[in-house]
Amino acid sequence: MSVQDLHTSVKQYLAANQDRFLAELFDLLRIPSVSADPKYKPDVLKTAELVATHFSAIDLENVLLIETSGFPAVYAEKILNKDFPTVLVYGHYDVQPPDPLDLWQTPPFEPVIREGKIYARGSCDDKGQFFMHTKAIEILLKLQKLPVNVKFLIEGEEEVGSANLETLLQKYQEKLHCDVILISDTSMIANDSPSLTVGLRGLAYMEVEVIGPNRDLHSGVYGGAVDNPVNVLCEIIASLKDEKGHITIPGFYDDVLNLSTEERNEMAKRPFDKQEYLDHLDIQDTRGEDGYSIIEQTSIRPTLDVNGIWGGYIGEGAKTVLPSKANAKISMRLVPNQSSEKIMKLFTEHIQKIAPPTVKVTITPHHGGEAVVTSTKSTGYLAAEEAMLQSFGKKPIPTREGGSIPIVALFTSILQAPVVLMGFGLDSDAIHSPNEHYGVFNFLKGIETIPLFYAHYAQLTQEKH
Ligand code: BES
Ligand code: MN
Ligand code: MN
Repeated sequence: MSVQDLHTSVKQYLAANQDRFLAELFDLLRIPSVSADPKYKPDVLKTAELVATHFSAIDLENVLLIETSGFPAVYAEKILNKDFPTVLVYGHYDVQPPDPLDLWQTPPFEPVIREGKIYARGSCDDKGQFFMHTKAIEILLKLQKLPVNVKFLIEGEEEVGSANLETLLQKYQEKLHCDVILISDTSMIANDSPSLTVGLRGLAYMEVEVIGPNRDLHSGVYGGAVDNPVNVLCEIIASLKDEKGHITIPGFYDDVLNLSTEERNEMAKRPFDKQEYLDHLDIQDTRGEDGYSIIEQTSIRPTLDVNGIWGGYIGEGAKTVLPSKANAKISMRLVPNQSSEKIMKLFTEHIQKIAPPTVKVTITPHHGGEAVVTSTKSTGYLAAEEAMLQSFGKKPIPTREGGSIPIVALFTSILQAPVVLMGFGLDSDAIHSPNEHYGVFNFLKGIETIPLFYAHYAQLTQEKH
């Protein structure tokens, strides 16, 4: 059967089964698998069970919950022939907390379709996306057209930094052995402009606590003399970037790989409408690092952002108080060649150095991860390119994205296999925000495209032999 004929059969199967596929996805979206909040623990575990049930239902073998010190990862495989290449599919079944709840138009764990989009927490990131793979394999197995061996690893701690996955990869290195790792957990430029992600940023996530007097004080009695931790924290944060948007931590940029003019020119060719970008966010203008375009500022340049800040009186009305403590969560997005460990150290030393002696400062690192760049020459990339060309009718553009998937760098180093980032989301899907959604078009297009990836991948590998 030609890939052309396979495409036709896939579309037929999809048309006949798409309502069931959507109903199954909805059941998955109804379980609030929030990994960050302990109160959802039973739901996270229930979700892992449901994922395993789906794997068994499509006839995958050795379906297994791999226990970790945190939430289990769900494993399954179909090994058809030891001479076939093996594809490992990675994704995550955990989701971000749904807060702030009052900003959702419909409840986050009661999925609905409005104007062709599935609204629910996790619809795009990443339940909707990894579930496309489950259904794509169902189709290939039903058509008896799976031309490769496939292994699934769907984890439950991506949204909290995948801290236990490195140990798992090391322990199960052999079991997870593969020729390529396929991931749908990123975005495309637009539905009529497919793209393949070839870069992700790294991350260094820190928490800072500034401690002043041993209790909250009357701000009239003590204010003016006793240093205020909230003021101090704000001063520190404000000093971390200069007027050009550069980060002021000494050594921060030392390891940053700068792109060549050709690479930057190539990047500038990707379609981007600034006015649309501003309108979508309801902002007047952007304010990033001098000398770089918005695309560059959000992909190939490192950043520093406060994710949350608190301290002092935040209740109703006004209470005059000089707070004893102030806290902030600060994250830095990193680019290739920067080391998250080194950046955490530079951050810590710098903050300690600039903090005035009138307060105590403690700095705690949360998770970190390294940036990645993947090749546009690998067999996996070429297969994904062919698959998207066939299903979208347009050759995908390679893009570098600003988000992070901490485990990707470890996949390359521990499993020593190339990664293909073939995501079908859109930046406007509001992942991590209220009203997260995923286009029905994108969900179905993903299921249509993935089988083509397998067909082209098998074909290209054969040609190489
Ligand atoms: N799927 C996202 C990462 C992503 C989103 C990459 C869009 C490219 C485009 C992933 O689930 C995520 O949110 N990662 C976190 C990191 C994690 C350590 C919390 C992130 O990027 O903040
Ligand atoms: Mn994700
Ligand atoms: Mn996410």
